[in-house]
Amino acid sequence: MTSKEIRKSFVEFFEEKNHKFIRSSSVVPSDDPTLLFTNAGMNQFKPIFLDQIVPEDPRAVNSQKCIRVSGKHNDLEEVGVDTFHHTFFEMLGNWSFGDYYKKEAIQWAWELFTERWELDKERLWATVYKDDDEAFNLWLEVTDIKPERVIRCGKKDNFWEMGDTGPCGPCSEIHFYIGDDLEKQHASGVNNSDMYWELWNLVFIQNNRIEDGSLIELPAKHVDTGAGLERIAAVMQGKDSNYDTDLFQPIILAIQEKAKSDYKINPIPHRVIADHIRMLCFSIADGALPSNEGRGYVLRRILRRASRFGRSLGLEEPFMFELVQVLVETMGDNFPEINEKKNHIEKVIRAEENSFNDTLDRGLNHFEKIINQEDIVNINGEDAFKLYDTYGFPFDL
Ligand code: SER
Repeated sequence: MTSKEIRKSFVEFFEEKNHKFIRSSSVVPSDDPTLLFTNAGMNQFKPIFLDQIVPEDPRAVNSQKCIRVSGKHNDLEEVGVDTFHHTFFEMLGNWSFGDYYKKEAIQWAWELFTERWELDKERLWATVYKDDDEAFNLWLEVTDIKPERVIRCGKKDNFWEMGDTGPCGPCSEIHFYIGDDLEKQHASGVNNSDMYWELWNLVFIQNNRIEDGSLIELPAKHVDTGAGLERIAAVMQGKDSNYDTDLFQPIILAIQEKAKSDYKINPIPHRVIADHIRMLCFSIADGALPSNEGRGYVLRRILRRASRFGRSLGLEEPFMFELVQVLVETMGDNFPEINEKKNHIEKVIRAEENSFNDTLDRGLNHFEKIINQEDIVNINGEDAFKLYDTYGFPFDL
């Protein structure tokens, strides 16, 4: 299946089960001071979970644009190094607002994975929160998963929270083994090895974490699920890297063409640039702009990081703004906002690339002066700080 077909099939599956399709909300939250970026599909439903508004429908389905580069959920360090974490990704999700609960959430997730999409049961594992006997028993009652493939894990992996405060609860995840040798699978690899990918997280929202750190019980119990489209596309397209799917390949091919480089020989810079251009396009389309503080500074850092990896491929002139068109061709059907704002996105990215190049050129002059001093072995803290603060060198540069 193509990624477009997977997205459509997910939504249709839950529409058949009386869920209402709700469009993705902006990646730039307008009314939640606890978030710089939308980090999960449930963000737009937070007031429902907190009993502040009554939903029009008790069930919802969507594909949400998410960014995880700040706050509680920050995957930046993994991006490019591994093949399945991203700054920007799409989260397929279904929700129950005080309607169905654990039983249907588990049953339908298994049905979609193993019957509709025919994922190999011999590769799937389920985890539950260590004290959640109800979820543990339901896996054995309402699915045909082998009992030894349901494992209990602690709070770190199986109690999901959107931030320091907010709706939360125990969760149950489905993991997929991507290795070649099925015999090598072992429960101890789940949550510990890159050979097991978390594909879907079913959260049973029943608490609210408040500012003093304590948990209070919500008046109703809800379901909040999230499955990363990029990982599902990889698994369903028989790849062991999200970057080999139809979501990323057009961008990677365009980078290779520009840099006359080879993704297979030098994958990390290609992955970083392909990831970061998606984050930049979607956040700028939703109203964010690079700047010196807060959300804008995150955009600036991401752009500089991509630009620096571009330099490592020999791309010294602005090049990222030209990738916007490729992304529009890949995702513009589903997210018309990137198509409508294409010119604006290109202008912002190009101006920011130019200004970073000027900064770097000035900084490199200063850097040369420092290292040409006699007897220099290390750059001292003061000079390093000046390169960072005055010349805008990212710390890793
Ligand atoms: N909110 C949960 C997550 O982000 C499930 O969607 O993983």
